[in-house]
Amino acid sequence: MPIQVRDLKFKPFLTAEQIHLRVEALGAAIRNDLEDKAPLFIGVLDGAFIFAADLIRAADIPCEIAFVKLNSYSGTTSSGSVKETIGLNKPVEGRHVVIIEDIVDTGRTLKAFTELLQQKQPASLSIASLLLKPDALQFPLPVDYLGFKIPDKFVVGYGLDYEGGGRELKGIYQLITTE
Ligand code: IMP
Repeated sequence: MPIQVRDLKFKPFLTAEQIHLRVEALGAAIRNDLEDKAPLFIGVLDGAFIFAADLIRAADIPCEIAFVKLNSYSGTTSSGSVKETIGLNKPVEGRHVVIIEDIVDTGRTLKAFTELLQQKQPASLSIASLLLKPDALQFPLPVDYLGFKIPDKFVVGYGLDYEGGGRELKGIYQLITTE
């Protein structure tokens, strides 16, 4: 059943159950790797708030949680063009850090943010992303905990938005294109 978000139509792409199963598996992998390391999870707002909440509970290990809001500037090819708009309120040095992102598209935002974090000398730095569009990737980066590789088509739901809409959807929906 197609749904409407703002002026666009989307079709079901991943069900809530598919997402749930995958998030549980990623949580188990994180637990396996970091159980005794008290990791610092850093969720990237706004889109990752639902994934972060589910992933952290799926990992179910002692941890700390912080959120950042990032702005990446399009129109520049530099991966350094990212700005923390809501800053990190937790020290990173010596911590095992896991960045939680909703989707890696070109990779620009996350590449720049990981470089910024590396300068703060964490004990380790890994990336969890629910979605990755391999065909859109311009700034390759290792995603240690990846939910799904998806085609280069716009998606909404489970925290991801189109013009501020669609974040509340329990599943993920893909833009219906006419080609
Ligand atoms: P990147 O810097 O190009 O990797 O862009 C990543 C950010 O763009 C994500 O955190 C999302 O906020 C947004 N984004 C990229 N693709 C989509 C999509 O298909 N749906 C919703 N937001 C997207």
